[in-house]
Amino acid sequence: MKNNGQIEIIWPEGKTGKAVAGESWLSAARKSGIAIPTGCLTGKCGACEIEVNGEVIRACISNVEKVGKEKIIVEFATDPYW
Ligand code: FES
Repeated sequence: MKNNGQIEIIWPEGKTGKAVAGESWLSAARKSGIAIPTGCLTGKCGACEIEVNGEVIRACISNVEKVGKEKIIVEFATDPYW
């Protein structure tokens, strides 16, 4: 099935969305109604860390990449209760 380069993203709490390769993670999250916490927006503080298919990345300086899987599973890397 053709999907026009869209990558399916599974967000925490069962939310789903789509993004295109090269799109920033913050933009992809916003489109899906997900608020990723941010701080410095320059890749230094770690407030925006998310887990993408088990790998921790800093969302403010990372883009969605096609990884050969059909779906990308995202978890928040930081404990929201600290
Ligand atoms: S907001 Fe500080 S590392 Fe992303």
